Amino acid sequence: MTFIVLAFLFALVNASSWIQYPPNGFATMTHYDLPSGYIASCACTGKSTNYPTSAMNQMAFGSAVAYGSACGKCFNLTLLNTFLSDPPFYPPTSKSIVVKVTDLCPLSTTGWCNATQEGPNQAGNYLNFDLAYPSSAIPDDFFPSNASLYGYTDFGVWNISYQSVDCSNWAGWKDEGALGSVTNLGPESACCPDNPSGNVNDTCPSYSDHNGIAPDTRTSGSPSTISSSGLFVLSVSLLTVYTLL
Ligand SMILES: *[C@@H]1O[C@H](CO)[C@@H](O)[C@H](O)[C@H]1NC(C)=O
Ligand SMILES: *[C@@H]1O[C@H](CO)[C@@H](O)[C@H](O)[C@H]1NC(C)=O
Ligand SMILES: *[C@@H]1O[C@H](CO)[C@@H](O)[C@H](O)[C@H]1NC(C)=O
Ligand SMILES: *[C@@H]1O[C@H](CO)[C@@H](O)[C@H](O)[C@H]1NC(C)=O
Ligand SMILES: *[C@@H]1O[C@H](CO)[C@@H](O)[C@H](O)[C@H]1NC(C)=O
Repeated sequence: MTFIVLAFLFALVNASSWIQYPPNGFATMTHYDLPSGYIASCACTGKSTNYPTSAMNQMAFGSAVAYGSACGKCFNLTLLNTFLSDPPFYPPTSKSIVVKVTDLCPLSTTGWCNATQEGPNQAGNYLNFDLAYPSSAIPDDFFPSNASLYGYTDFGVWNISYQSVDCSNWAGWKDEGALGSVTNLGPESACCPDNPSGNVNDTCPSYSDHNGIAPDTRTSGSPSTISSSGLFVLSVSLLTVYTLL
């Protein structure tokens, strides 16, 4: 019993220790299945899945529950090399993709989304982008491979560089149906900014370093219990299953 209470308190403390990451740097990239049309943790419109999207590791994403400060942000991701394969694979040409963050990759004790302020993931990185892939928006041969050398094509985990970019660089930028939020999910709805600039007023409105739990933005900025629609959004984030090697 005491253990459970302590573990819960630890989780609360932990949830307010978001990772502050620089606009550009190195990260890992994994991939996961996100069904076409799905409304993931950020409550971005279903049409956003027609374009490249990604989940982000929880402690950088900015919420343990549904949407976080990363929701709606766009990043240019460039594949560098694999490091779990023997030997490491350095593709002959580098490939990049601009993604919009629409989902949460839950914090775990191991795996690729486990970075906290106290330490990085297995590759030494504080950021993991979990790419929604396969996707109608991304060519099936997006990830470079060399099947004759390795005997398989999916390396699962890549070392990448990332750059924060304006969302006008995102393929879905000209599709109004793919930008913004689903409006009928309740308080968690209004939280997929078209193009967050970093200004507190155009990131997710109820995100706060002091709120592990998203408040009900319909009534106030104060924390409230999670509505059934919140649970729906949360359940979607459980789709975040990254590739195991
Ligand atoms: C993404 O990064 C690649 C590699 O650095 C670069 O060639 C490309 O122009 C970048 N794209 C955008 C939209 O910034
Ligand atoms: C994440 O998991 C890896 C093993 O997969 C471990 O080496 C690393 O220390 C973990 N990081 C944190 C912050 O727990
Ligand atoms: C990732 O790539 C960078 C740049 O090439 C390199 O410095 C770093 O060692 C690589 N990390 C891993 C885990 O391969
Ligand atoms: C695969 O690896 C082998 C051995 O290093 C190399 O000779 C070949 O050019 C590679 N093929 C591709 C498509 O990269
Ligand atoms: C955010 O919006 C509030 C209320 O409209 C305003 O008082 C505040 O100055 C804004 N903050 C920034 C950084 O623009």
